[in-house]
Amino acid sequence: MTDRLDPLLRFHPFTRLNTLLQGIEPGHQRPLLFSVGEPQATPPEMIKGPLVQNLAEWGRYPLAVGNADFRRAATDWLNRRFHLPASMLDPDRHLMPIAGTRQGLFFVALAALQEPVSAAERPVVLMPNPFYHVYAGAAAMAGGEPVFLPATAATGFLPDPDTIDRRTLERTALAYVCSPANPQGVVASQAYLARWLKLARQYGFTVAFDECYSELYRDAVPSGALEVAAEAGGSLDNLVVFHSLSKRSSGAGLRSGFIAGEERMLKRIAQLVNYGGVAIPYPILAASTALWRDEAHVAINRALYNENFARARRILGNRMGATPGGGFFLWLDVGNGETAAKRLWGEAGVKVLPGGYMARADANGQNPGERYIRVALVYDAAATQEGLERMARVLTSNVAAASEEAGS
Ligand SMILES: Cc1ncc(COP(=O)(O)O)c(C=O)c1O
Repeated sequence: MTDRLDPLLRFHPFTRLNTLLQGIEPGHQRPLLFSVGEPQATPPEMIKGPLVQNLAEWGRYPLAVGNADFRRAATDWLNRRFHLPASMLDPDRHLMPIAGTRQGLFFVALAALQEPVSAAERPVVLMPNPFYHVYAGAAAMAGGEPVFLPATAATGFLPDPDTIDRRTLERTALAYVCSPANPQGVVASQAYLARWLKLARQYGFTVAFDECYSELYRDAVPSGALEVAAEAGGSLDNLVVFHSLSKRSSGAGLRSGFIAGEERMLKRIAQLVNYGGVAIPYPILAASTALWRDEAHVAINRALYNENFARARRILGNRMGATPGGGFFLWLDVGNGETAAKRLWGEAGVKVLPGGYMARADANGQNPGERYIRVALVYDAAATQEGLERMARVLTSNVAAASEEAGS
């Protein structure tokens, strides 16, 4: 019997990064943390009022399901954003707030794995490889067997649902699908999302569609799973979607997102919050309501990230590969992610995450992230420019050093 906590302790990407960089002094007096996906912009002014007015609200235990005003605002946003028929989502049955989608993505595994597929075999949790680390941690803690699906250059950086064998699908209780994808920034087409929903309904598993980067896109507006469900007749069976204010509204500290989808799953997740989770305090819920009702600040954020990608293109050139369609990460092939991360920290004071820390080795011992680094372009224009220039100097000398070695 394997220890369920072991994967949490052994594979946490930022714990591993701290270990890797231990003892290396940053090579610049102003270190830049391009390792964490935390927007550095200040959250919009509009949250100030709801957070400080009506102090009494801080004295109340919040409900897991939040309040009607929040549920209405988030539902209206989904309806507008994904062109849903007004009758499809009932705000009181199909949507609940969650104190950070991380918590929801963790709890959805506990909720989905309540029904064992067979006593003899652990239920399977499908996820892309590389992946947001919480998926694997949640699968392990829920007693599931994580199955890692290659999401590499060869597969267009999204896992191919048609390559999963029938036996595995029959054991599957949950699949995580992330679009725009962290770390590669690929945006899945509507047809791709539809393939997952169809498969889930055929084999009776739940898909957790992680759409927390859906508002940070370049040219094409990403589709979403609810749009697919609407096209397929409007049923919410077998799906839950996750949206967050952390990236859209630069509000990671608010710990505010929501889950929408199948009522049965939402009820279970609400109970998990009641027993061992955190519900969103009412003043934060009021601030969140205001943010979901406003798009102007989101357009400003989107423009900032798009400028950062244009800057990266100018500074890194072809080294950057294709511009990611969504999110704020660069996923750079640098040959060896750990070596590059150490050099970037030690020579330039820029912290990045080795791609291998977001992935697991496949059956051949090959880690699909190990050639890469993940670079979060979350700073303002000036800091991004400076960080990218520092990076370019190190990465260029890296190539020069490698070709000298090859020549000697
Ligand atoms: C893919 C993905 N999903 C979910 C989250 C969690 O976001 P939050 O808990 O802040 O809503 C993150 C945060 O980095 C993420 O990258």
